Amino acid sequence: MPKLWGGRFAISSSKLMEEFNDSLPVDKNLWREEIKASSAYAVALAEAQVFSRKELALVQKAFHAIEKEFSDGKFTYRPGDEDIHTAIERRLVEKVGAIGKRIHSGRSRNEQVVTDERIFLKNTVDKIIGVIAALQNSTAKLASDTVDDIVPSYTHMQQAQLIRLGHYFMSLFFMLENDIRRFMDLRKRIDVLPLGSGAVAGSTLKLNRNILKKELNFASLSPNSIAAVSDRDFIGEFLFAAAQTLIHLSRYAEDLIVWNSAEFRFVELDDMYSTGSSMMPQKKNPDSLELIRGKAARAIANLNSLLVLQKGLPLTYSKDLQEDKEALFDSVETLVNSLRVFDGVISTLKIKRQNLSGNVDDSIYATDIADYLTERGTPFRDAHSIVGKLVLLAIDQKKRLKNLTIDEIKSLSDKFSEDYYQIFDPEKSVERHDVYGGTSLRRVNEQIRLATRILSEREAGKK
Ligand code: ARG
Repeated sequence: MPKLWGGRFAISSSKLMEEFNDSLPVDKNLWREEIKASSAYAVALAEAQVFSRKELALVQKAFHAIEKEFSDGKFTYRPGDEDIHTAIERRLVEKVGAIGKRIHSGRSRNEQVVTDERIFLKNTVDKIIGVIAALQNSTAKLASDTVDDIVPSYTHMQQAQLIRLGHYFMSLFFMLENDIRRFMDLRKRIDVLPLGSGAVAGSTLKLNRNILKKELNFASLSPNSIAAVSDRDFIGEFLFAAAQTLIHLSRYAEDLIVWNSAEFRFVELDDMYSTGSSMMPQKKNPDSLELIRGKAARAIANLNSLLVLQKGLPLTYSKDLQEDKEALFDSVETLVNSLRVFDGVISTLKIKRQNLSGNVDDSIYATDIADYLTERGTPFRDAHSIVGKLVLLAIDQKKRLKNLTIDEIKSLSDKFSEDYYQIFDPEKSVERHDVYGGTSLRRVNEQIRLATRILSEREAGKK
């Protein structure tokens, strides 16, 4: 099959080189975007007198037909279609004859590929925001179902302070909110149209790029053709946001895996999101969450691969950049699937209420005891040290903190009195953390209300 660029070549590429060079297996994913961009380009070409009105109509009709071939699964690739750009151009020429060859006037695949990627990414970001918002919705529901459940929080994987379980789940909600805002923000930098940049120096045709902008619904035009064809920063930002979202999921996945273990039994994963072992009949494994944890590694690797791809790459376009798409498509698919599975896990998660505080050690109240002393006039640093000694004394006496006698506690500070024993109440402990953002009932409910408002405003914004 003759190449679109075959004129300058005396002999054709080796079969091996041809396969090595082809990006069609990956970029055929961009057929919709390629047709859209080409069809808009035809409008600008007609405006620049490259096509007559009648020819434009023919070309547009052909693009419609090609689009239908794709959506009906009837488009056939031919040997020599090295990427989606050449495949669609070849098909156009087949359909409209020689005038089709004018579609590439002043145009380069260097600008086509980034144009397609940008169109693809804008739509993808919108879709991802929707999928994250759905998970936020399930998360907020779970949080409001668990505001009355009190669990230990952990720092250094050691019991730290008591918190409301709903407070814990709201933390996921707000991390996801940051993810959404990151995607919304980076979308602005995707929304810049490169078409009209040519191979590197800009087009020699009198192209009205504003027509292209309008046809393709972009917010602005790339102000520099070199940057337009060279830079993949917008993909890098996207891959970072995808990796960060997956890192968020991965950390909650890890907690839930631990909480689902026999040692904790705080939660139980639904059968739908667990799988069995081929050897050990008793096993019910949290594979859904383990996979999400694993998928985060892929997303990080994809970001890394795009960064390394560009480092040290001379300006402007080099074929290395063709390798950007596998990372991109893989992260999109990985992220969307992981979000949906995580949503399923969250929506079906059983909370094992009877186990939540079973293993809580009295020492979890140590900060409350220090606060007790502080409220009675002991400077916090001294209170910290007194409570440290109190913990040691309890270990020494093989007693729980709340079982130390009044004389024992008074031996460490005369600020202690009988009301010391009232500290050991989980409800009281969480209620004392009544600062904005804290774990008291009122503050967690405040967070849930804020979440409901964010979700309904986002929903209304779509309409
Ligand atoms: N398939 C190429 C890519 O994905 C399109 C651009 C090719 N440009 C070129 N001059 N060979 O990057």
